[in-house]
Amino acid sequence: MIALTLATPFAHIQYEHWRHHYIFAPSGVYGKEAMVVSAHRLASDVGRDVLAAGGNAFDAAVAVNFVLAVVYQQAGNIGGGGFMVYRLHNGTTGALDFREIAPQAAHRDMFLDESGAVIKGKSLRGALAVGVPGSVAGMAALHKRFGSGEWAALIAPSIKLARDGFVLTDKAARMFNRYQQDFIAVNRSALSVVKNTGWESGQTIRFPALANTLERIAIHGRDDFYIGETSHLLVAEMKAANGLITQEDLAQYKVVWRTPIRIAYRGYDIITMPPPSSGGVALSQLLQGIEPYAVSDMRHNSTQHIHLMTELERRAYADRATYLGDPDFVFVPTNRLTAPDYVRQRIRDIDSDKATDSRTIKEGNVERVESVETTHFSIVDKQGNAVSITTTLNGNFGSKLAVQGGGFFLNNEMDDFAIAQGHANQFGLLGNEQNAIAPAKRMLSSMTPTIIEKDGALRGVIGTPGGATIITSVFQTLLNLIDFEMSAAQAVYARKSHSQWQPDVIMMERGTLSLFNMRGLQGRGHKLYPHPHFAYSLGRVEAIWIDDTGTLEGAADVSRGFDDAAAGF
Ligand code: DON
Repeated sequence: MIALTLATPFAHIQYEHWRHHYIFAPSGVYGKEAMVVSAHRLASDVGRDVLAAGGNAFDAAVAVNFVLAVVYQQAGNIGGGGFMVYRLHNGTTGALDFREIAPQAAHRDMFLDESGAVIKGKSLRGALAVGVPGSVAGMAALHKRFGSGEWAALIAPSIKLARDGFVLTDKAARMFNRYQQDFIAVNRSALSVVKNTGWESGQTIRFPALANTLERIAIHGRDDFYIGETSHLLVAEMKAANGLITQEDLAQYKVVWRTPIRIAYRGYDIITMPPPSSGGVALSQLLQGIEPYAVSDMRHNSTQHIHLMTELERRAYADRATYLGDPDFVFVPTNRLTAPDYVRQRIRDIDSDKATDSRTIKEGNVERVESVETTHFSIVDKQGNAVSITTTLNGNFGSKLAVQGGGFFLNNEMDDFAIAQGHANQFGLLGNEQNAIAPAKRMLSSMTPTIIEKDGALRGVIGTPGGATIITSVFQTLLNLIDFEMSAAQAVYARKSHSQWQPDVIMMERGTLSLFNMRGLQGRGHKLYPHPHFAYSLGRVEAIWIDDTGTLEGAADVSRGFDDAAAGF
């Protein structure tokens, strides 16, 4: 390694080789025409089949979303919400917000006791944690505007999988088993996912109630979920479990079409999600902040590289906590926060040799309650339309509460609000009045579905789960692709670090740092976070990257034994 840093005429070549190729990643999936990357092989294959049969990216998105709601229930959903960023083949871009909203009966202090203290777990588990779901409305809206296939036909594969069953992978079996006690504790009746002897890989699991729900949605569209039979089941569940969502809450739910945030970065255009996600604003600050630095001259995951990203990240997350919330309820200074002169001024005090103490800005604490799950899928069709969707129940299986007779889990997205001043949510994120609970308000998100173009041509689609680490994972994936010129598979696989202002530490995946770089960062005053959870679970990026010849590379992160897969042709 030392030899590689010497200034010999060949050093650069060797160094390039070292820098890029030590990231051993399973090969991506290549295609000439179309690609789907999602959290489950069955979903990616269904999406690919829709595209191969002439459906467009939006058709595939509907099919993939509903299949994930069956085969990947910890995050794939109809009882949650999400965001889509899209780019049509003609270059038109847009964003769809189908985020959950707080029920009408929700109020600012609903998770506090009489003394004003946060009641532990109340925003995370059971009926009060549930926001009014947006996913079915989201799918219906994007299908109505852009779909070319028949709605019912796109839902048919998910109905079949729920009714006939599908074979559990090892990971899926373990996920269901891990939460058995929660499912039993939270629900009034036995769920299909609960099996006393535990699930094993290779067994077939069936979801008849969910199949019925999907069938109704196939026939009646979004109406079934918001005013029809499914809405009645959902409201009955809320009544039985002392939740807040009423028939009126459901009937009034609306998606919002939004204008994406556009970021110019080294000749590329990055198109990403505006508020109520914090993702686009933060990503804009991070990319603009790092652009003046010669990232491509740095070694990937070197002291210098991680120090710089960390310093930018702590500033971006401090702004997130202070300024961001639902723009339909509070003023969010998006333009100001993403203005080049603001970002320049914000990074002026970055010292390349010394970490800034986050406490010089504000104080906070992290509390991690449990592992969490969201899911992202990226789709490109034959015409060149691109869809980037991140959707979630927030926690694994959301609130753990399932709608009796409906067969689906409800989110625990209420925890994404700032439920009390100075109280960190399950991702350790802080917030203030901007993100306080109010009826029908959207809770702030970090989800960052993103599309990349260059010189007017589509170049990539990326996104990831990971709570607070979503933004930094998307950020690093972009640097990997653009600055370090990695393949999609390498960019997805490269180990990632994360810092979010508070707690004032750098979290990282196992294998991110050499001992040398670890010492280097500590020497600059950084605290490294040894939490075992973070050894595995920064983002899980699902990427499509298009090279100069137009070849699509799909790459799913399977490094932690999940079932993610790319499928294309
Ligand atoms: O909207 C958000 O930012 C969170 N509810 C996302 C949750 C998440 O990514 C969990 N995944 N690992």
